[in-house]
Formats: sequence, structure tokens, C-alpha cells
Amino acid sequence: MFSSASTNGLVTTSKYRLAVVATALASLSSLPRVILAPHPTPIDTLTRLRAALGPACPSLYMKRDDLLSFGMGGNKVRKLQTVLAEAVAAGTDTLITCGGLQSNHCRATAAAGAALGLRVILVVNGVRQERPTSNALLDQLFGADVRYASSREERAAMMDSVAEEERAAGRRPCVIPLGASTPIGAAGFALGIQEVLVAGLRPDVIVHSTSSGGTQAGLIAGCALFGLKTRIIGISADESSTALSAVVRDIVEGMAGLLGGSHASLGADRDVVVDDRFVGEGYGIPTKGSREALTLVARHEGIVLDPVYTAKAMAGLIERIRRDSFPVGESVLFWHTGGQVGLFA
Ligand SMILES: Cc1ncc(COP(=O)(O)O)c(C=O)c1O
Repeated sequence: MFSSASTNGLVTTSKYRLAVVATALASLSSLPRVILAPHPTPIDTLTRLRAALGPACPSLYMKRDDLLSFGMGGNKVRKLQTVLAEAVAAGTDTLITCGGLQSNHCRATAAAGAALGLRVILVVNGVRQERPTSNALLDQLFGADVRYASSREERAAMMDSVAEEERAAGRRPCVIPLGASTPIGAAGFALGIQEVLVAGLRPDVIVHSTSSGGTQAGLIAGCALFGLKTRIIGISADESSTALSAVVRDIVEGMAGLLGGSHASLGADRDVVVDDRFVGEGYGIPTKGSREALTLVARHEGIVLDPVYTAKAMAGLIERIRRDSFPVGESVLFWHTGGQVGLFA
């Protein structure tokens, strides 16, 4: 269900800034995309969850990218649409990417390769499962060739050597960095903000899970380009706030180069807020807070989060609500970035 929320104003701008923004917006809108799923995704109003969280709870909405109808959905679908358009135009026949054993990004890439008729090689850190589960099972189903690295640190070099082997065999590989979190991938995500505006919502705050940085960079740039002052709060799934905010800032700056806008027009002058207090024992390990968030959302809204990205992000939002940190009348949009198959790992 969707109803429009209280609003903050559009950013006021000079004529020069408008022209710069218009240039970047035009580049953004004309970026080639492979359409993997129809958009927009729905925006739900979380009425029962709001009531359960008490009087300090702001108006709560959820952007349902978990419902993107391709390859089990999630935020990677948006990023891959622009990344793969570029790869296909360059004549790629083999996609190479990396992630953890249960990576949502690897699964989405495997699905995209299947849909586009491209070979997919996944470099994952972890041990081969005798009976693959959740994303690993889907990687196999989509026909990806999975190679195992013994650590995260090894993945990038292993992708390069796999690409080298592919070239030597006469193929045209494309290496997609972790999470497709490149400027062009983030640009694919920025267009999601247009969907929010078209739905009549101008949230004061967006809260979401952040890990390789592309989603957050896309949201920051999208808000800047579409004239929203919305505060973006990324809840880290693994990295420290200092490290991840630097990664996000670099991607936003890369987007300025890609789209031809000034750094400010893409939001590179805005604060990058990454909250790393909800990681717990580490990447991929649920916490007490994430379990509570998963259960609360399931039991009050009938919506399924995943245990290690979106549930940690929701735990971060709930903690802020309980601390009464949103001024009266504010609206918060929680961006559901998918990953629910992780429940069946
Ligand atoms: C379900 C889910 N949510 C959020 C994220 C974080 O997105 P990003 O890597 O763009 O920061 C990921 C990425 O791994 C994910 O799989």
C-alpha cells in the first residue's frame, strides 16, 4: 500500500547549477540499460510496524527492490542493467565476477548471464558445498561455472587470471568488480530515486544496507540529481564506517566523470553516513538485533528481510527509532535491497 508522505522541499538552485544538473540528468537518463525487470518496484507503507515501534516512530515506507522480478530480485539487478549494457555493447561473451559463497551479486550475475546467453564464471571465497543451498544452489541452476578462492583477498587477482585464460582461449571476458559497485553500476541505481519521486514521496531519510558501496553512491547521486535533500544512512554489513564511506565517495566522484556533472551536482559534497555498529561478529553472521528485526518485520508486515544485510539495516533503523532520533513529522524510506534467499543457506 502506498500513500504520500510528509515532504521536505526541493533544493533551491542557481541557473548555473540547474544547467549542470540537467546535463548529468540527461546523461543518466540516456545511459543504455539491459532491462532485466520491469520498474518501478512498489513502495509499501509500514503501518503495523510503525505502531509496534511506538510514538517516536516516523512515517515508515519500504521500497521493495526485493520484488524485482528477475533472478530472485534485489539491488544487484538495478546495477547490472547498466553494467551489462556496456559489456554487451563491447562484445563480451563471458562475465566474470566475485563474492562470498552465498553472494546475492553472484547469483544475480549468473541469472543475467543465463538471460543474455553469456557464459558466467564466479570466483567465490568459501568451500564448495556438497549439496549447494540458497544462492549457491541458484548459481548452479543458472549454469554458472564456480571457482573457489581461499580468501576474500585472493578474489581480485584470481578474476584477473581467469580473464587472462579466457582471452587466451579466444573469448571476450568482462570482469565485473565486487557488487557491480562501479560508477556505471551506481548510475543504474540512481534512477531508482526517480521512481520514488514519481510515486509522490519525498522522504526525509533513506536507510539501507551497504557493503560494496554502489547502492549508497547511487542513492546519494540520485537524490542530488533529482533535487532531494534526503539524508542517506547506510548500515554496514561488514566494513568500517571510515573505509566504506571512502569507497562510496570514490564511486560518487567517478559518477561525476561518467555523467559529466559537477561533483556537487552528483552529491559528492554531501556527508556520506555509514553506520558500522550493527555488523556484530562479522560479515554474513546474524546478530541478536538482526534476528529481532527480521521477526518484527515478518510478524507485523508479512515482509521477509534477509538475515545479514537488510535485517542488520533494519536493526539500525529500529535502534534509531528507539533512541527517538527522528524529528516529529519526518518520513523514512527503508530500501529493501533483497537477499531473502539467504534465509535458506
Ligand atoms: C541483499 C543485499 N543488500 C545490500 C547489499 C549492499 O549493497 P552494495 O554492495 O551496493 O553496497 C548487498 C550486497 O552485497 C546485498 O546482497
